[in-house]
Amino acid sequence: MKQKNLVVYYTHSANTRKIAEIINEQVDGTLFEIIPTQPYPAGYDDVVKQAKKEINAGHRPALMSDIDIAAYDVIYVGTPNWWSTMAPPVAAFLEAHDFGGKTVVPFCTHGGGGMAHIQKDVEKLSDGAQVLAGFDIYGSGGSNAASAVEKWLKEVQK
Ligand SMILES: Cc1cc2nc3c(=O)[nH]c(=O)nc-3n(C[C@H](O)[C@H](O)[C@H](O)COP(=O)(O)O)c2cc1C
Repeated sequence: MKQKNLVVYYTHSANTRKIAEIINEQVDGTLFEIIPTQPYPAGYDDVVKQAKKEINAGHRPALMSDIDIAAYDVIYVGTPNWWSTMAPPVAAFLEAHDFGGKTVVPFCTHGGGGMAHIQKDVEKLSDGAQVLAGFDIYGSGGSNAASAVEKWLKEVQK
């Protein structure tokens, strides 16, 4: 039977959405955007300050909607790198689900810091999952994004 793929992501400034869409196209999956009930401030300094506070406090923001992950075998989980970890809405999503028997594959976009602690932090919150090696890309990945994703997917699906 063909495996069912879900691509979930949070984005603040659309880079992670772009990569999520590329992954989703290549794995023929279902796309789901994690949206917090309270949007983060648009201004860079404001969001950086709020994110720092929330991450230090282990805050889990309320989310606008949810998706039943039961039917999916592989769940790609995308986040911007925020202070070297995942954005709090992504942590809230992971914590709210049971990943028993599923495969979780992290990916992130960043401003130069790469995956940082994201791989480990996703592993900690993905209860019961087999977590595969994630993918990171600078910003929106520019015009190389699709080929970089394709190369990574080939590796990870081996
Ligand atoms: C609150 C905040 C914290 C960030 N912290 C980091 C960081 O620690 N390391 C890094 O490389 N980039 C950091 N960035 C840059 C983002 O990871 C990068 O711009 C990312 O591509 C944004 O993704 P998005 O457009 O999907 O929101 C930070 C950005 C924000 C808004």
